[in-house]
Amino acid sequence: GLIHTIKGLTELESALENKLNIRKVLVVPGNSDESELVLKDMGRTAARFLKKIIKKSNIIGITGGTTMAQVAEEMPKGKVANDILVLPARGGLGKDVETQANSIAANLAKKLDGNYRLLHVPDNIEQEAINALLKVSEVKEFVDIIKKLDILVFGIGRADVMAERRKVSEETIEELIDRGAVAEAFGHYFDTNGNRVWESITVGLSLVDFKKVNNVIGVAGGEKKAEAIISISSIREDMILVTDEGAARKILKLV
Ligand code: BG6
Repeated sequence: GLIHTIKGLTELESALENKLNIRKVLVVPGNSDESELVLKDMGRTAARFLKKIIKKSNIIGITGGTTMAQVAEEMPKGKVANDILVLPARGGLGKDVETQANSIAANLAKKLDGNYRLLHVPDNIEQEAINALLKVSEVKEFVDIIKKLDILVFGIGRADVMAERRKVSEETIEELIDRGAVAEAFGHYFDTNGNRVWESITVGLSLVDFKKVNNVIGVAGGEKKAEAIISISSIREDMILVTDEGAARKILKLV
């Protein structure tokens, strides 16, 4: 029955908090690998949590991806605090997945009756071009604000899936596999222990910045992402994770 299910989820949450050694875990029923409704439910749960912690003048960063799109979509309309600012966490990281981060940030800001800023960086850019871009005052300003994030809401992906989505070269994919990449978050690729093994060339949140953000909320579900979630959870002990039952049960089998 329902009560039993709820109790089961609460137990799953505390088991995961212990095993992953992170601050808080919220688990929604089901497996998002199998149902879009579960993805929506994760989005709604993350949005509600986010809404509760936003304070006046907060700067909120958000990444791209289908999960983050649901977080913005499921955010109830209405102002929660004055003067909030929403930004995409990183510039273009290749193809439309990340350019979406701009529209997701704008959508979230509009829902919360806040302000937003967008960042347009072309795909497949060389480091030299990035260095030149960083001299543009608008871009420089953006990078400075990113360092002051109060809250980051981010998606977590599998390294193989994200590398493919971003159309990175065969050569790079092989190198990623060689280095043991299993997870991807905000353009960085990590091995099982949360060591960074590669980073996409762009502008925005760095790993150093990530470690300084006060509130980091990772949202990812589906059994297939279990290993990726384990990896990212090992980067910060005070991370908040919103996931689903599919990923949760698989994680408990792996750790
Ligand atoms: C991307 C983020 O847009 O979404 C990545 O930049 C993240 O860091 C990915 O891994 C997750 O995507 P999805 O569609 O599985 O939520």
